Amino acid sequence: MKPVIDILEERISAAMAAAVGRSDCAAIVRAATDPKFGDYQANGVMALAKKMKTVPRQLAEEVIKNLDVDDICEPPEVAGPGFINLRLKTQLIADKLLEINKDSEHRLGVEQTSQPKTVVVDFSCPNIAKQMHVGHLRSTIIGDCVCRMLEFLGHKVIRQNHIGDWGTQFGMLIAYHRRQIDIAADYATGKVSSFPHVKDLEEFYKKASELYGSDASFAEEARSCVVKLQSGNPVMCSSWERIVDWSRNEIYPIYEKINVILKREDERGESFYKGMLSSVVAELKKKGLAVESDGAVCVFPEGFKNKEGKPLPFIIQKSDGAYLYATTDLAALRYRVDELGVDKILYVTDARQKLHFEMLFASARMAKWVSDDIELSHVMFGSVLGEDGAPLKTRSGENVKLKELLDEAVERAKAVVEEKNPDLDKDKKDEIAKAVGIGAVKYADYSNNRTSDYIFSFDKMLAMDGNTAPYMQYAYARIKSIERKAQTRDVDIEHELAGLKTLNLTEPAELDLAKTLSRYGEAIQAAAADYRPNYLTAYLYELAQKFSGFYTNCPVLDAGSDKRPTRLLLCDLTAKTIKHGLSELLGIEVVEQM
Ligand code: ARG
Repeated sequence: MKPVIDILEERISAAMAAAVGRSDCAAIVRAATDPKFGDYQANGVMALAKKMKTVPRQLAEEVIKNLDVDDICEPPEVAGPGFINLRLKTQLIADKLLEINKDSEHRLGVEQTSQPKTVVVDFSCPNIAKQMHVGHLRSTIIGDCVCRMLEFLGHKVIRQNHIGDWGTQFGMLIAYHRRQIDIAADYATGKVSSFPHVKDLEEFYKKASELYGSDASFAEEARSCVVKLQSGNPVMCSSWERIVDWSRNEIYPIYEKINVILKREDERGESFYKGMLSSVVAELKKKGLAVESDGAVCVFPEGFKNKEGKPLPFIIQKSDGAYLYATTDLAALRYRVDELGVDKILYVTDARQKLHFEMLFASARMAKWVSDDIELSHVMFGSVLGEDGAPLKTRSGENVKLKELLDEAVERAKAVVEEKNPDLDKDKKDEIAKAVGIGAVKYADYSNNRTSDYIFSFDKMLAMDGNTAPYMQYAYARIKSIERKAQTRDVDIEHELAGLKTLNLTEPAELDLAKTLSRYGEAIQAAAADYRPNYLTAYLYELAQKFSGFYTNCPVLDAGSDKRPTRLLLCDLTAKTIKHGLSELLGIEVVEQM
């Protein structure tokens, strides 16, 4: 089933072309902002009229004369300066819902793309031995949702976790690790009487960097460790592996907790590219794109200037020979194009890295490492702010620990459950609190326009009304409770739905809900095209509200036999759509009761 919006776009564009005798016509069909004006609106006539130097309203009338949409719409109307308003036929909506009802593949009316693409999504990417911060949380969950949407639409997605597991900071970490091992040995043989305990990897990192700053001989040792590590010294490598594994033990439980699909095999950290860095530099030099500047090797991509108007360097090798973040990204990009055969690469990282990615893409294109038809996109996002409007920090000014943040969300969600449903048994309450707490944090992030900053507020995200996870989860649970009630009244929903041949959509609230249900595919497509999960949450919220309007106005179980099957279907499809959106695309659990 092709989305109606696409069919309308095609047909109206063709009618425009026929009306003026030129082929470059775009109907620009959008969902109508106010249902008074119908379901869709074509906005393209105005621009065309300008090009043709004619009166837009007249041109719109002309277009309508050339337009055949009788099978889908009521007669189109011209409105305002030259919009074309379109109202879908009820029969079309009914047919679509009946088709969804019969679909054994449970795609909820969403078509797979006819042009599947291979897409690398580079997301999450925490740094070894450092705490994962809220920025990594955003990358992790936005990236995961983008992957899930693209996969559902039929694309081939390759998840890439470009973790920060290489670089000079490993010198001090390894040096510190070696010292710990020596002390442990001395402790074992009784040479020293106490063993300095390190609480976690974060403390380990802090202590190592303190020592690096204060103890010159340690710093010297750290530098020699880097050199040895880079030349493959087995002792250094084993320390390095130990430290990376230690980090993994913190990262993977978080992925699991927040329901993100990211596995060991998706990990291709910076270290993976270490053997390719010298050839990146050599090749760019050979092409005449990389040159020495103040001892460093730089690319000067076209169009990038500093404040004084001088060309801005993209540094790929420091004067001491060390490679940088940029070098690794160039190597990764080339690898993805050459070895993974991508059509698109998406980088889900915060907006502060905008310039880095612009320069990366420009350099790679100058080197002809990517052909023009390959899309490179920086899917960027803003910061998470505290209630005071400053970047989220703990009261003592430290970075907020992800694990603690999630635990607090679950703890607070318990209060919500307690209030809604005090009689549930404890395990059930815990299960619901987990779904609601984690769901609330994720949903709050998704529902904000990703490019803006947003204020992190437990109170807002856990509110039972508004565009929040608990509201959506409650909407779902409510439909499930109707189904449970049906059982006690011997209403056989499955049987009634299986026998459905026609729908009875006479009430405005029924038709409204039905139309929204029929537009799920459009919402996913729009969200996937712009990599914006908030389009999906906005749709789900609208759906839940339409359901609420319907349920207030239209009794379901008490409806007569002419109405009940249709209404049961509306309930069933609303529940299925909410569940699919939340759990399959956003990775947020639903619960049967709340
Ligand atoms: N590890 C980096 C950070 O924490 C993010 C890496 C993003 N991916 C990339 N290919 N550069 O900022």
